[in-house]
Amino acid sequence: MDIGKSSFVVVANRLPVDRVTPRDGPTSWRRSPGGLVTALAPVMRSFDGAWVGWTGSRDDAPAPFSTDEMDLIAVPLSAEEIALYYEGFSNATLWPLYHDVIVAPEYHREWWEAYRRVNERFARAAADVADHGAIVFVQDYQLQLVPNILRQLRPDLKIGFFLHIPFPPGELFAQLPWRRQILEGLLGADLVGFQREGAADNFIGLAERYTDATAGDRQVVTADGRTVLARSFPISIDVSEITQLVSDPDVQARSDRIRSEVGSPKHILLGVDRLDYTKGIGHRLKAFDELLAGADVTPDEAVMVQVATPSRERVEAYQTLRDDIELQVGRMNGEYGTIGQPAVHYLHSSYERAELVSLLRAADVMVVTPLRDGMNLVAKEYVAARTDLGGALVLSEFAGAADELSDGAFLVNPHDIDGLKRALLAAMRLDAAEATQRMKLLRERVLGNDITRWAQNFLDTLRAV
Ligand code: ADP
Ligand code: F6P
Repeated sequence: MDIGKSSFVVVANRLPVDRVTPRDGPTSWRRSPGGLVTALAPVMRSFDGAWVGWTGSRDDAPAPFSTDEMDLIAVPLSAEEIALYYEGFSNATLWPLYHDVIVAPEYHREWWEAYRRVNERFARAAADVADHGAIVFVQDYQLQLVPNILRQLRPDLKIGFFLHIPFPPGELFAQLPWRRQILEGLLGADLVGFQREGAADNFIGLAERYTDATAGDRQVVTADGRTVLARSFPISIDVSEITQLVSDPDVQARSDRIRSEVGSPKHILLGVDRLDYTKGIGHRLKAFDELLAGADVTPDEAVMVQVATPSRERVEAYQTLRDDIELQVGRMNGEYGTIGQPAVHYLHSSYERAELVSLLRAADVMVVTPLRDGMNLVAKEYVAARTDLGGALVLSEFAGAADELSDGAFLVNPHDIDGLKRALLAAMRLDAAEATQRMKLLRERVLGNDITRWAQNFLDTLRAV
């Protein structure tokens, strides 16, 4: 198919769809995991642009193809590049470094070389598809060198970059042997966006410290005299998608069925996360375990449903985490479960949006306890799903979402297990009037800044640079 040039190009590590190749049967495409796709897919629908990314399979380079909403341009990765660039530098160096070194980052020169090489490939693919003067919107930590490479290739473009994860303080970032190159890569953009103010401040301070740039008020001036804006744009969700699903009678019926299938307890506690060590899944299980052990709640009264989406399964820290969580769940079910009635319903799988929204609607307490998280869209999805003004949100102060949702949520420090237990109990014992009041506050914040507004803010700022 002939794909023309685009005036709006998104560049992300993954395409919004992953290729699924069953052993028998035809290949198909499935929505890619994670918050980035949740946020950007609806934005693309309104732009009719092109999306440059990887299909999720090795050596996969289908010819550019179109969906109703966008053109998809696949960037191939070899098995070795997946190991070195994706699993290695992106997810065993940058990911843990940017998330407060919860797991020790590894620094390998071979991984860095692959990261550089692959970033160059993405930049070339974007340069090929972008029309003269186009906007190119580069996404996330896997592609931090792309803005600068792209600027060298195509000085006519407007380049925006958005980091979906935290940007660490100097004490941590300084560990990175390639800190100058990463900062210079980002400084190729006209606008660099972050989830929180503090992250933008970290970036500005570090750019001044480790490059030839000078820092100004929410901006950096590079050695060659260009001004790069650095601002926070807290990302959000497609509220209308969730609202539509919630009003679907099938979703409502499914939600009721879920409640009865887990034994119609008084309280359903829900966690929905990629199975990632940043998400604090073990901390929330421990808190629930202690509540059951201390008879603060009984297994008849409260059950936990934990959806743990498979993620980065070849990275060692993720394998260890899976073993740890599954051991913890197994122990709890052995201790408190009965036949047909486990204390924790653990689901290691990916779900359709309708099923996910049915779960959100069924949950009395949404438990979001990351040790560090750029934003956490699940917290916002829960709020959007509660059109009935029911339910309660327990939210870690270390999620970006806490900046906006502190008024209505029960904020917790997930490391403080006693504090977490108190918050879970308070959320379970909340009276209906206060629950409604809190949910109203939460909904005001989420509905007031949905993904359309976020994209508009970012792109208006970029156009005005
Ligand atoms: P992250 O980007 O770190 O994965 P977020 O909470 O910001 O975390 O975004 C996760 C996104 O993935 C949300 O839109 C959530 O609904 C979706 N998601 C999480 N788990 C599943 C699952 N098991 N099946 C389908 N979608 C999921
Ligand atoms: O939002 C953070 C993020 O890392 C995205 O960049 C990514 O697409 C998503 O989570 C899922 O991670 P992965 O692409 O490694 O499966």
